[in-house]
Amino acid sequence: MPLVFPFDPNIARAATIPARLYNDPVYLELENERVFAGTWQLVGRAGDVAEHGQYFTTQVGDNAIVILRDRDTLRGFYNVCLHRAGPVATGCGKRNTLQCRYHGWTYGLDGGLLRAPEMEGTEQFRPSEMRLVPVQVAAWGPLVFANLDGKAPPLLEVLEDMPARVAAFGCDTMRYVTRKTWDIACNWKVYVDNYLEGYHLPVVHPGLHKELDYDNYRVEPHRYLSYQHAPLRPVHGGNASMRRYDPSKTDVPEALYVWLFPNMMLNIYMGQMQTNLVVPVGHDRCTVIFEWYSSEPPTDAAAESEWTKLLAFSDEIQEEDIGICEAVQRNLRSRIYDRGRYSATRENGVHHFHSLLHEFLT
Ligand code: FES
Ligand SMILES: [Fe+2]
Repeated sequence: MPLVFPFDPNIARAATIPARLYNDPVYLELENERVFAGTWQLVGRAGDVAEHGQYFTTQVGDNAIVILRDRDTLRGFYNVCLHRAGPVATGCGKRNTLQCRYHGWTYGLDGGLLRAPEMEGTEQFRPSEMRLVPVQVAAWGPLVFANLDGKAPPLLEVLEDMPARVAAFGCDTMRYVTRKTWDIACNWKVYVDNYLEGYHLPVVHPGLHKELDYDNYRVEPHRYLSYQHAPLRPVHGGNASMRRYDPSKTDVPEALYVWLFPNMMLNIYMGQMQTNLVVPVGHDRCTVIFEWYSSEPPTDAAAESEWTKLLAFSDEIQEEDIGICEAVQRNLRSRIYDRGRYSATRENGVHHFHSLLHEFLT
């Protein structure tokens, strides 16, 4: 099977990407190298690296990294010691240096090797010229992003006008509230495809469908991101009590749903925002991490009815999406299915995602 695949940039003529992209582990390896290492990945929260010396560790694909604050500068490094690949940091915390857990080599917060004990007899060994391998790091609002290969355009360039569009929502000052993770038996792209269209709303989410103005639902693709506009349905007298949201009660009726290539979503509302990160854990499994932020974080989200209601509604939608995504993954293995067609009016967001995949993979 060839790794490359044909793809038509015209949605009206295009077929969807071949089933093997969802089934064959070789594509996950390719995606790790060409997609995940080459793009901005959400890796953590700015609040965890607010003070000098604060750090956290995380993983992007097979790559362990450490993000830290060195005075005014946010830095990131591969969490891999130059000696024999031990970890130079674990968990999170606050330190003035990073010390490898294996033989104790010590690095400064700028990545330079400060101490390597008992290396006296080793020739051509110049600690002053050795430093941890950096990754590109940037923050937007409360979120920290990293780019492994250092070649992605600056984060603010990739985000285009997004920060300006959401300025009124107050994301900059939002703080972390809570998180939830789901292990889902589907390829990461099945979950992303599903997020990128509202076409499945009437059948998969009857509850949510009642809230949204389906006729005016639309997706607006940009270079590396897309917006989804999902206006609330106007409330008509009699059925108001059946509704969870009342658009007349808020100044900014439209929430903003942003997808950032390849695997992150930002769902932004007035005073509240949620990030969704889709992390592949195999060619047919992914973990989806939801994190909530708020301008007025509750002391205990589990104890406040406004938050428990919000989280329960989110769970309901998520369970519906998981059910269909897992069923689709099983069917993508069917001997009779390879490629389908797009709805030219409803699936431009999915087609945009697949165009970017095609661009990065081939
Ligand atoms: S592997 Fe880090 S000091 Fe040996
Ligand atoms: Fe959905």
